[in-house]
Amino acid sequence: MNRNVVTYLEGDGDFRSPECIAALKEADVVVTNPPFSLFREYVAQLVEYDKKFLIIGNMNAITYKEIFPLIVQNKIWLGYGFRGDPHFKVPDNYEERATRFWIDERGQKWRSFGNMHWFTNLDVRKRHENILLYMKYTPELYPRYDNYDAIEVSKTAEIPMDYFGVMGVPITFLDKYNPDQFEIIGNAGSYGVDGYSLCAALYLNGKKIFKRILIRRRENID
Ligand SMILES: C[S@@+](CC[C@H](N)C(=O)[O-])C[C@H]1O[C@@H](n2cnc3c(N)ncnc32)[C@H](O)[C@@H]1O
Repeated sequence: MNRNVVTYLEGDGDFRSPECIAALKEADVVVTNPPFSLFREYVAQLVEYDKKFLIIGNMNAITYKEIFPLIVQNKIWLGYGFRGDPHFKVPDNYEERATRFWIDERGQKWRSFGNMHWFTNLDVRKRHENILLYMKYTPELYPRYDNYDAIEVSKTAEIPMDYFGVMGVPITFLDKYNPDQFEIIGNAGSYGVDGYSLCAALYLNGKKIFKRILIRRRENID
């Protein structure tokens, strides 16, 4: 009978150590919560070793210049998110934090997750489900950026059903992204101009717009 076997590491467990890489090579699927400061490096290693994975990361990682191209190339996407405001108990000796931290009436310390999400390359059903579009395009409702030929769509749910040009949407769009329905054109406002960033930042009536992903409908849909 196949039983799980726990094998203790001899080294310090750094994911870049030969010992951990040897273990990685044996793995079919990697499920973990990697150190966020090394997220780019960690994902690069999973891609290099061609592993299936399900890992926790900050939503902002979407716009990293090492991660965004992987999203465009369909090598990584968002899994199902954490519902509500996920939080977890932390031990008494946990240092108090200024944000996402509280102590309940029993003295139990808690932290909440913040802007976290599952990142994966395992197929998920929502990736094949179309976003239901109901809004109609009008130039008044969807203004054009000052410095780029695209319209501003400030909420994913309000993507117009009858517009086939380039649109700027919030990064949370990726939670609903079906690559058969939309194509990703680029990433604006997060880093300098390169292969996937079309302009340094988008402006609307002189005002800088927070991170946007530029997308376009695929015409053969509906
Ligand atoms: C976001 S925390 C996840 C903690 C884990 N889920 C747990 O419940 O203990 C990331 C973990 O990665 C570890 N870590 C930091 N640098 C690492 C490295 N280079 N290789 C392997 N693990 C590392 C940290 O010590 C920390 O425990």
